[in-house]
Amino acid sequence: MSQPKGTYSITTPIYYVNAAPHLGTAYTTIAADAVARYQRMNGYDVAFVTGMDEHGQKVADTAADKGMAPQEWCDSMEPAFRDAWKDLDISYTDFVRTTEPRHQRSVRKFWQELHDKGYLYKGSYEGWYCVHEETYYAESDLEKNDDGEFVCPDCKRPVQLMASGEENWFFKLSDFQDKLLALYEERPEFIRPETRRNEIVSFVERGLKDLSISRSTFDWGVPLPFDEDHVAYVWADALIAYLTGIGYANAAADGGDGARGDEFERRWPMQYHFVGKDITRFHCVIWPAMLMAAGLPITHTVFGHGFLLTKGEKMSKSKGNALRPADLAGIFGVDAYRYYFMSDVQFGADGSISMERMVQVYNNELANTWGNLVSRVTNMTKKYFGSKVPAAPADAAATKDNPLRSMADALYVEYDGAMALVDFTKAIGAVQALAARVNLYVEESAPWNLAKDEAKAGELAAVIYNSLEAIRIIAAYLAPFMPNTSAEVFRRLGLNDVFAIDDIAAACAWGGLPAGNAVEIGDPLFPRLDVDAIDMDME
Ligand code: MSP
Repeated sequence: MSQPKGTYSITTPIYYVNAAPHLGTAYTTIAADAVARYQRMNGYDVAFVTGMDEHGQKVADTAADKGMAPQEWCDSMEPAFRDAWKDLDISYTDFVRTTEPRHQRSVRKFWQELHDKGYLYKGSYEGWYCVHEETYYAESDLEKNDDGEFVCPDCKRPVQLMASGEENWFFKLSDFQDKLLALYEERPEFIRPETRRNEIVSFVERGLKDLSISRSTFDWGVPLPFDEDHVAYVWADALIAYLTGIGYANAAADGGDGARGDEFERRWPMQYHFVGKDITRFHCVIWPAMLMAAGLPITHTVFGHGFLLTKGEKMSKSKGNALRPADLAGIFGVDAYRYYFMSDVQFGADGSISMERMVQVYNNELANTWGNLVSRVTNMTKKYFGSKVPAAPADAAATKDNPLRSMADALYVEYDGAMALVDFTKAIGAVQALAARVNLYVEESAPWNLAKDEAKAGELAAVIYNSLEAIRIIAAYLAPFMPNTSAEVFRRLGLNDVFAIDDIAAACAWGGLPAGNAVEIGDPLFPRLDVDAIDMDME
């Protein structure tokens, strides 16, 4: 193993336990996994934090509806998340539950520090609150329903007027307006994509109110150390999970066992928080202000991705159109499922998804291009070289007229640049362009004709070697998106574990495939699918 380039840390939101994972939450999680897997192959020491957001009124209410204690309800949901992520091959490094003692320590330490620094004060609050979104709204932002009730502008459910006289702790968010605007100015990459940045800048320019960070009328939360009758309000609890996931408040002095050593110092600040566009504001306004107040550096980029839409509507469980990830994985396989969402939905934009389109992408890009390429070249290797990687003569087409090599050599820079910017569509497109080129190269070179002519044996060996070598490189670059298929292609080429790669640029240098390796044919990687035979709709 070569020396790591440094740390690279990424998070998904900490998901509410109320709903089991659906395509929307799986989307963020798969994207984060592709980054985590790639940056490991690229030599970084990666942390990938996900988890469950377990506190707050909504969870307490749901538990009560089910006749369970809140903790019992949360515990019962953990397997739904862990299993879903296991089934989708998510390689997270930490799964934070906000009810864990280590997270409670984080929340208490964090707010104690802000209290000590004078950023908190106690005041009374009267205002509108949506339990479903766990968010306060200004009256001017609310809408009215047919009965004339105020409803939440996001989920359209009636909002509650928080009792006047309830004392809350407030964080002096309004002190941070100028500092936040300076942050957005100095670090334009802090909020991506650009459209989200513009929304946030104009929101902050309109002025910020102080933020209520605690509640005393219910107790399903982390008690604040300086006022134990108050529990941290959901976002003041959940955001801190990002710190917990890399070992914050784990030192003996904080009451922890110290087992994670200096991990927090090494990993903070992180490279990315991946969030949906609906929660970008919490991550781009409240969170950096909290970090500034705590004297901690700020995450490099908050990336607010778009929504998955079916027939133009946001998919969500409450609208009854939430498919389970396992349903789709059952039809397409986990890898093709991951591939579709990462390649066909531009990360950052909303994306309409449909079964028809998914089958089309599957058949064109996976069955016909990538899967077919692997089959035909491994078949020819068997036929012409007894299933052994042939040695390409140094002076033959291997080096001279080899259009694959120049393309493969240019791939790292293009792919790595796209992955650094989390433009998955572009990264995958660059790899698929090579796959399409290899298919064309095989057509142009017509190995079946070369095989008829003894004098062309060297050329035939070169064509097969070049094609196999390109397949090896394509498999390596597709591995972050399709981990199982790439592992299988490496196995069929007689190579070691693709995820043992920790310097992908070096590993993909042309000529890395050893001549003489035994090549296996195997079943088609992506058997063609017929959309009419699929009895399931995304709506
Ligand atoms: N608990 C908070 C996050 C706290 S992070 C410190 C939360 N949880 S959530 O379970 O509601 O998270 C949902 C995440 O899934 C959000 O990022 C949201 O944008 C995303 N999605 C939910 N439905 C979606 C789609 N239809 N499409 C894409 N993502 C969407 O918010």
